[in-house]
Amino acid sequence: MESIKIIQGNAISELRQFKSDTVDLIIADPPYNLGKDYGNNHDLKGFDEYLEFSFSWLQEAHRILKPTGTIYVFMGVRFISYLYDILDRKLGLYFNSWLTWHYTQGMGRKKGFSPRHDDILMFNKSENFKFRLDHIRVPQKYFRKRNNMSGANPGDVWSFSHVHYSNPERENHPTQKPEALIERMVLASSDEGDYVVDPFAGSGTTLRVCQQLQRKCDGIEINPEYIFLIKNRLNKNFEGFDSIDPRMERVPRDLPEKIGTGNLF
Ligand SMILES: C[S@@+](CC[C@H](N)C(=O)[O-])C[C@H]1O[C@@H](n2cnc3c(N)ncnc32)[C@H](O)[C@@H]1O
Repeated sequence: MESIKIIQGNAISELRQFKSDTVDLIIADPPYNLGKDYGNNHDLKGFDEYLEFSFSWLQEAHRILKPTGTIYVFMGVRFISYLYDILDRKLGLYFNSWLTWHYTQGMGRKKGFSPRHDDILMFNKSENFKFRLDHIRVPQKYFRKRNNMSGANPGDVWSFSHVHYSNPERENHPTQKPEALIERMVLASSDEGDYVVDPFAGSGTTLRVCQQLQRKCDGIEINPEYIFLIKNRLNKNFEGFDSIDPRMERVPRDLPEKIGTGNLF
């Protein structure tokens, strides 16, 4: 099996080709139905049509996940409750976390509050799932004897800036996600050699992260221009993940207390 594979096509029909119960982790960042221009596809369907589309790909995603598998789904506020309902009630997955990706900059509104977050739903296929907390800890805010000073649970509000135009990692794609955000999902919910699928690859962020973290990964993308862009991105030199939280460098691993004995926050 190739370790990193790019498939050009429609997520629904392509996912139907995958074997059942084979995938450890799915990271899905579908179009949010907000009218974005993705070149050969325009992200604007009728309400019911969008829900049917969402149900169809989520049903396939559920089928291909291993019983120990995890799915993360990015979504905007308009449709997130409907996607939650599909995952929870219609497909019977196990709710794990409702994550908020908080970003510091974005569009300003004059009437109403300026949006500063996207949501990410995390569900498991069963109650017996993988979660590698020790791989994603962040520094504790304060030193307390009872804290696990190898780091805290990052919680369910994740602050990462957008990949700005000035960032050398920036690709020519309108909704590119930060590598460090995807890195946290991959590290938390898979091990080296595990199999990851991204049904809406875009600029290839999940593929790039999996390439660097030694996971197998298949990415599906409908726009051939983005396929070209992903191939170039995967061939670039790697100079570290973007948006790394500088505090990560301060994790004190050499404190006398035994790691894992403290409370986690
Ligand atoms: C929100 S973007 C993904 C961005 C990606 N996470 C990144 O970091 O670059 C959604 C992508 O899905 C693609 N797309 C839209 N409909 C699709 C479909 N039916 N099957 C596969 N890809 C699709 C779009 O072309 C777009 O690149």
